[in-house]
Amino acid sequence: MRTPLVVANWKMHGGLAESGELAQAVRDGLKRPRGVEVAICPPFTSLTAVAAALVGSPILLGGQNCHWESRGAFTGEVSAEMLAEAGCRLVIVGHSERRQVMRETDDEINRKIGACLRAGVQPLLCVGETAEERRQGLTFTVVEGQLRAGWAGLGAAEIGRCLLAYEPIWAIGTGVNATPAQAAEVHGYLRGLVSQLSSKEVASATRILYGGSVKADNAGDLTQEPEIDGALVGGASLQAPSFVAIVRKSAARSGAKE
Ligand code: PGA
Repeated sequence: MRTPLVVANWKMHGGLAESGELAQAVRDGLKRPRGVEVAICPPFTSLTAVAAALVGSPILLGGQNCHWESRGAFTGEVSAEMLAEAGCRLVIVGHSERRQVMRETDDEINRKIGACLRAGVQPLLCVGETAEERRQGLTFTVVEGQLRAGWAGLGAAEIGRCLLAYEPIWAIGTGVNATPAQAAEVHGYLRGLVSQLSSKEVASATRILYGGSVKADNAGDLTQEPEIDGALVGGASLQAPSFVAIVRKSAARSGAKE
């Protein structure tokens, strides 16, 4: 049984005071989450403030991106080692905003995933198609290409340390989420691929999150799908009550109460 994981992606929101307060409010709202794991990925500058608010809490800290080298002349970049040292346990890699706005390539994403594994943080690879690609029937082709390229060169044991998120680009920040059936279809396809790239055992243990307009009122239906192992939440993670509600609904799938 895969424990659902709910990840807050705060994107570029939250200065020090605001981040500390929001993390504290999430912590207070959840007490000790049961049957679900929770992570918060704040902007880099707020990592220490969020880490301080989460001391002694099972809520994990995560980064939103990293560089593929551990150190060097890379102005403006932050390494996976640095994130690990700051207390991060996972790092979002290949988010569509980075692919589209920062022109990140599959090769760079692959190198970042290798860097995360070397640093001992779990890479959360994001894959997903545009509206136009879906309209043209290319959804599976696109997510398969992104997954194969992102995980290129990894062995089964390394894949076993990875997390995956299906984030259809047309659903991110639009208020139009994929239906549970649409998401489950892609998740099932991805799990089959994970099995091909590693083993059946690894695939059945790999958590595949759904992201894209997850809100308190659709989280229950989405995470009830057996193929959907939690959520990657942007906008609705910026208010503690809505994020806490999403976590509770995701925990409900395993029959556990938070
Ligand atoms: P959203 O963002 O929940 O605001 O759609 C999700 C994401 O980008 O990870």
